[in-house]
Amino acid sequence: MKVEKSCKIVHKTQMGDAVFMVLEAGDMVRTSYRNPGQFVHIRCGDSLLLRRPISVASCQEDYPSDLVTIVFEVRGAGTQWLAERKLGETLDVMGLLGNGFPVKPEGRYLLVGGGIGVPPLWGCAQRTSGKSTAILGFRSKDKAIMTDLFNEDCAKTLIATDDGSLGYHGFVDALVRQELEQDRNYDAVLACGPRPMLKNVARAAKEFGVPCFVSMEERMGCGVGACLVCACDMKDGSRKHVCKDGPVFDAEEVDWDA
Ligand SMILES: Cc1cc2nc3c(=O)[nH]c(=O)nc-3n(C[C@H](O)[C@H](O)[C@H](O)COP(=O)(O)OP(=O)(O)OC[C@H]3O[C@@H](n4cnc5c(N)ncnc54)[C@H](O)[C@@H]3O)c2cc1C
Ligand code: FES
Repeated sequence: MKVEKSCKIVHKTQMGDAVFMVLEAGDMVRTSYRNPGQFVHIRCGDSLLLRRPISVASCQEDYPSDLVTIVFEVRGAGTQWLAERKLGETLDVMGLLGNGFPVKPEGRYLLVGGGIGVPPLWGCAQRTSGKSTAILGFRSKDKAIMTDLFNEDCAKTLIATDDGSLGYHGFVDALVRQELEQDRNYDAVLACGPRPMLKNVARAAKEFGVPCFVSMEERMGCGVGACLVCACDMKDGSRKHVCKDGPVFDAEEVDWDA
């Protein structure tokens, strides 16, 4: 069920280039949480017509108000406005929206995140408490975020950086191959990050016969399936809405060459 709420900022920290923010969200989690990887659609000031989609990094039912954590980077006017909000201010938030990752608490997953695609995988790590493995990729050591949180909630956390300043020197798909060569006993690979990364991770998972689910990013308008701005091409020739059918799709369904 879609809900629109006035959400109070109750915690805010800078995490490298990213902002970590916790919102009091009324009964939003109780009424619309389905799985990790859903997103919220946030109004960013009066001058911007369109809301901005941000993944839920973590959420919990709480009384009197549920808590929703988001982690975001400043890209343009909307996220800049958001980053300037202070503790105690309220945000106009729609959520929780979309379909997230098909995570079962008893499952064991290979979680693969790139850059600002890392935050929604934290919810998957928490849901499978200590059983999953995380592979997190960043441009460099100073861009790395949330590694301590994944260390706490995963059996193993591997880091890759493009410049080799932290962990493995290279891209995450090479680490995915290394991990699956040693152990392909994962229920699925779950990935979020830039499209070229998702394409390579999906290919690696397919080589090892492990199911793969990816969180796709497209620009959004309405956020609820009414405007077609967020269309994503599928292999069967259809176009799906990232906001309503996704953002998470079976990697086998996506037309990676579109
Ligand atoms: C389902 C979903 C979940 C997301 N989760 C997060 C998150 O957890 N943390 C986070 O930091 N960002 C996330 N994003 C991206 C975020 O929505 C964009 O960075 C934001 O909308 C940019 O708005 P802006 O006004 O700051 O920038 P704009 O001025 O609108 O754009 C600035 C730049 O960002 C690019 N951009 C805009 N929208 C998107 C988009 N949807 N995807 C990729 N690039 C975009 C533009 O091409 C432009 O170069 C998510 C996007 C989607 C679709
Ligand atoms: S954003 Fe309007 S249909 Fe997806």
